[in-house]
Amino acid sequence: MVRNSKEHRRDPHYKSAKQEGYRARSAFKLLEIQKRFNIFKRAFYILDLGCAPGSWLQVARKFSEENIEKYNDQYYHRDHYKIMGVDIKKTTLIEKIKLVQEDFTKPKFIDELNAFFPEKLDLILSDASINKSGNKFSDQIRQINLCLKIIDLTKKNLKINGSLVIKVFQGTDFNNFFKKVKQEFKYLKSYKPKSSKKTSNEIYLIGLQKI
Ligand SMILES: C[S@@+](CC[C@H](N)C(=O)[O-])C[C@H]1O[C@@H](n2cnc3c(N)ncnc32)[C@H](O)[C@@H]1O
Repeated sequence: MVRNSKEHRRDPHYKSAKQEGYRARSAFKLLEIQKRFNIFKRAFYILDLGCAPGSWLQVARKFSEENIEKYNDQYYHRDHYKIMGVDIKKTTLIEKIKLVQEDFTKPKFIDELNAFFPEKLDLILSDASINKSGNKFSDQIRQINLCLKIIDLTKKNLKINGSLVIKVFQGTDFNNFFKKVKQEFKYLKSYKPKSSKKTSNEIYLIGLQKI
């Protein structure tokens, strides 16, 4: 966490985000994940959980738009893309993206999700994070509980062979969580992007080829 605005402004990723028009420095974490795992390959139907202020949505839109031209072949492709972002907080409008202001763990959101996407998703992104209390032990447990709900949603809504990116906190429950998610994917990797602060215990799990 950046502690004050002066520290924030000195952060090189914050500066680059500003220069490149991204709403948050988190964009670089997703760009690093993409470079390493190519999660956006043939991704046309995408859901971003915990999307505010919207930098992952900006990245997702860029790759989805490229995919329309890039994968116009006999293999799986679409002539359009659909992206939905959901957050409890308000996200400022982003053109061509469906924004929902809801708690994504509530049934009301699932109804909206099903109404928007006619088919299952190619990619689920989750940078969702609990409100940290400062107690690393209880925060990690609360984050894992949130992630378990995201895994339930993933089981129901991600297509076979689809991909998942999910933010977890390292700690005592991490290994059990990893084993649980591993059952759902052919490949599961943990990855800490360079742009993620070393002082943060956040780490991302990348699930490839849902079973
Ligand atoms: C680190 S921010 C996401 C930043 C975003 N990836 C970006 O690049 O702009 C985490 C977000 O998760 C959201 N969040 C956490 N739990 C949520 C829930 N149950 N439903 C909806 N949003 C949630 C928070 O409100 C917060 O805005």
